[in-house]
Amino acid sequence: MSVYDVVVIGGGPGGYNAAIRAGQLGLKVACVEGRETLGGTCLNVGCMPSKALLHASELYEAAMGGEFANLGIEVKPQLNLAQMMKQKDESVAALTKGVEFLFRKNKVDWIKGWGRLDGAGRVRVTAADGSEAELQAKDIVIATGSEPTPLPGVAIDNQRILDSTGALSLPEVPRHLVVIGAGVIGLELGSVWRRLGSQVTVVEFLDRICPGLDEETGKTLQRSLAKQGMSFKLGSKVTAAVVKDAGVELSIEPAGGGAAQLLQADYVLVAIGRRPYTQGLGLESVGIQTDKRGMLENQRHRSSAPGVWVIGDVTSGLMLAHKAEDEAIACIEQIAGRAAEVNYDVIPNVIYTRPEVACVGKTEEQLKAEGRTYKVGKFPFTANSRAKINHETEGFVKVLADAHSDEILGVHMVGPSVSEMIGEYCVAMEFAASSEDIALICHPHPTRSEALRQAAMGVEGWIMQA
Ligand code: FAD
Ligand code: NAI
Repeated sequence: MSVYDVVVIGGGPGGYNAAIRAGQLGLKVACVEGRETLGGTCLNVGCMPSKALLHASELYEAAMGGEFANLGIEVKPQLNLAQMMKQKDESVAALTKGVEFLFRKNKVDWIKGWGRLDGAGRVRVTAADGSEAELQAKDIVIATGSEPTPLPGVAIDNQRILDSTGALSLPEVPRHLVVIGAGVIGLELGSVWRRLGSQVTVVEFLDRICPGLDEETGKTLQRSLAKQGMSFKLGSKVTAAVVKDAGVELSIEPAGGGAAQLLQADYVLVAIGRRPYTQGLGLESVGIQTDKRGMLENQRHRSSAPGVWVIGDVTSGLMLAHKAEDEAIACIEQIAGRAAEVNYDVIPNVIYTRPEVACVGKTEEQLKAEGRTYKVGKFPFTANSRAKINHETEGFVKVLADAHSDEILGVHMVGPSVSEMIGEYCVAMEFAASSEDIALICHPHPTRSEALRQAAMGVEGWIMQA
C-alpha cells in the first residue's frame, strides 16, 4: 500500500492541474488515470483536437472558397485528410507528453489504471493487466470528468453514428452529416466538416441554437453559419436512427409532436450535451450520492464525505477546461490550508466557429429576469478598421453595464479573434471595472481590440465610429 497526502482520480485539466499544484506545494501526490495518456477529454478528444481541425479546415476553406484569391493569392488547394488528422494527432501527443513531463518535474506519481473509492481515505486502482494497487491519502480529489449524453433510439457505434470522439477522426468527408444538437460541439465540429465539403444539417430540439447564449449573440451566429451553408432544423427531435448500407435513416418529428419526416445521412453526430462520469467510482463506499443529473454536489469543492473533494465536469457549473483548472487550484490551495476561491461570475465561454463567439458574465435575458436595470453599448465590426481591411466584418461587441454604478456585468461578442480578446473584459470584471474605465483606456490602432473600447464608449453614450 502506498501512502500519499493527496490522491487525485482523473488526469484531465481538473485532475492534472490539481496534482501539479499539490506537487508544487510540497504535498506527496498521486494522480490515477485510466487512459493511456494524460490530459483527459480536453487534450485527447476535446478542446485540442477540435481546435486543430477548426484551424486547418478554416485555412482550407479560405484557400478553396475564394478568400485567398480575393487577397491576390492564387493556389490550387487539395484536401489531404490523412495529413490533417496526422498533424492533429501529433499535436495532441506532444501536449499529453507535456503533462507527463510536468508530472515528473513536480514529483507527481502517475498511477496507471482505473481508480475507485474503497472506504474513507482509500483508493483501489485496477491496471490494464488486471493487477490491483491500494493507495491511502488524507485527501482524495475526484476529477473524473464527463461523457457524452446518450440519445435513446440513436445508438452510437462510432462507425456511422458518432459522438464527438468519432467525429474528430473520420476517415472520409461525409457527403451529408446530420448533427443532433445545436450546442457547442455540434456547431464547432459541424463547421469543420462543412468547410471540408460536407452538407451539414443541424437538428435542434429547442427553437434556438446554444440555449445558454445571449439571444442576440446566438441569432447572429446562426445567421452567419446559415449563410455559410449550414442548415438548421430547429424545434425538432430525432426519434430513431437506422443504419442502412452506407448511411443512416433518421426519423425527425416536431419537438411538440407531429408527423415524422425521414432524413438520409451518411454520418450522424450526436451532441446533445455531456453528463458526469462516475461509473465504477465506488461513491457508495464513502456515502456520496449524486444529484438527479448524476452530478456530484460540492460546497467549495468539498463533497458530502470528509476528505473527498470534487472538481471539473463531474460537478456542477459550466463544463469547461478553464473552469476545471480554476477549481483544481482552489481545491488544492484549500487542502494545503490556504485561502482560495473561484469567481464563478467571471468564467469566459468561447465558441470557436467562424465568426467566433466569446462571452463573460450575464446575458441580457438574465439581467431582465433579475429585474436589474442596465445600459448597453454595442459596436459592430463593420466599423472597425482592422476588421474591414481583413474582410472580416461580421459581428459585434456588446457591453452590458449597471445603469447606476456603470459596473460591467456582461460582455458578448461575435466576430474575428474574439476568443483572444475576451480576456481583457475578464480582467476588467475581476477588478470590478466600470465601462467608463475601459472607454478611457488607450487601445492600439488598427486592431480589432479597439471595438472593445468603442463598445464601452457606447455604454457612456460617446458615439465614435471609424
Ligand atoms: P476530463 O477532461 O473529462 O478528464 C477526466 C479524466 O478522468 C479522463 O481522462 C478519464 O479517463 C479519467 N477517469 C475517469 N474516471 C476515472 C477513474 N475511475 N479512474 C481513473 N481515471 C478516470 N472546454 C473548453 O474550455 N474549451 C474548449 O474548446 C473545449 N472543447 C471541447 C471539445 C469537445 C469535442 C469536448 C468533448 C469537450 C470540450 N471542452 C472544451 C470541454 C472540456 O474538455 C472539459 O470541460 C474538460 O476536459 C473537463 O476537465 P475534467 O478534468 O473535469 O475532466
Ligand atoms: P451543449 O449543452 O452545448 O448543447 C447541446 C444542445 O443539444 C442544446 O442546444 C440542446 O438544446 C440540444 N439538445 C438536447 N437534447 C436534444 C435532442 N434530443 N434533440 C435535439 N437537440 C437536443 O452540449 P454539447 O454541444 O454536446 O457540448 C457539451 C459540453 O462540452 C458543452 O456544454 C461545453 O461545456 C463543452 N464544450 C465546450 C467547447 C468550448 O468551450 N468551445 C467546445 C465543445 C464542447
